[in-house]
Amino acid sequence: MLGAALAERLSREYKVIALGHIECDITDSKRVAGIFSRYRPWLALNAAAMTNVDACQEDPEKARAVNAKGPYNIAKAAGKHNAIVIQISTDYIFSGRKDKPYQENDYASAVNIYGETKLEGERLIRKTVKKHIIIRTSWLFGKGKDNFISSIIRRSRKEKVLRIASDKYSSPTYALDLARAISEIINLIDGSAGPDKVYGTYHISNSGYCSWYEYAQVILKSAKIARVKLEPIKMGQINFKARRPVFSALDNSKYSRLTGKPPRKWQTAVKEYIEREYM
Ligand SMILES: NC(=O)c1ccc[n+]([C@@H]2O[C@H](COP(=O)([O-])OP(=O)(O)OC[C@H]3O[C@@H](n4cnc5c(N)ncnc54)[C@H](OP(=O)(O)O)[C@@H]3O)[C@@H](O)[C@H]2O)c1
Repeated sequence: MLGAALAERLSREYKVIALGHIECDITDSKRVAGIFSRYRPWLALNAAAMTNVDACQEDPEKARAVNAKGPYNIAKAAGKHNAIVIQISTDYIFSGRKDKPYQENDYASAVNIYGETKLEGERLIRKTVKKHIIIRTSWLFGKGKDNFISSIIRRSRKEKVLRIASDKYSSPTYALDLARAISEIINLIDGSAGPDKVYGTYHISNSGYCSWYEYAQVILKSAKIARVKLEPIKMGQINFKARRPVFSALDNSKYSRLTGKPPRKWQTAVKEYIEREYM
């Protein structure tokens, strides 16, 4: 989902070589090294991951291979070719016990295998390649993959009552908005600001945060679906294989200070996406 949005956005300004799972299995270090030798990129962006949180819980080895060893393979090859690495990470590296949005240097401690392996991926990137940028985001929606919005709209066509957790919070993020924000960062690296001021870790999501229940309310309103009733429930009533962080909203201020362009509100982005894709 994010990879496609990035390829679309970045190819307006740069020559982009977009590689999917088939062209480049990031768990295969020889393959990754071969791709760097062939294309010699000045910047490599990793949006590949094992993103199904419950599947990661069931197959920790595979999760570690994709989410930790994959970024390590990219970092090793990038270091050899003096390329910059942008690694995409997640709000799920945090425990979710805070009551206000997480900042970049807040202590990270995941509550599930997905978060643990993504955090390990971050650590390996930091250790292996000096010229890196790590971008943590949350609750992505966009074209190309089933997501919270598509699932609410699909369920609303069949069910009269949707029971949605009201005690889990983060920030919905439009993949196109994140791709635009990443292009702002790349422009700064590429521009006169100088890359050294830009390297590091950033939190980027749409502005504000909500519970899944509030998110579903805005989705139904934006899609003009009035016949469905929403019923708030507790996370504990949902039978997930993996635990989820309760509150994992991200504080975007470091990114906003860097670019002078704070991300727009999540409600505006959700409305635009629904109008574009569903109306
Ligand atoms: N989705 C969210 O809500 C969310 C929230 C926070 C952070 N993030 C992070 O944002 C990034 C993008 O997420 P997304 O939602 O766009 O993910 P996505 O749609 O699930 O895309 C991930 C891609 O990675 C590919 N992939 C899996 N294993 C691979 C491997 N070994 N080698 C190469 N490619 C492989 C997948 O291909 P296959 O389909 O063939 O496996 C898929 O095309 C990820 O780093 C994710 O951790 C996502």
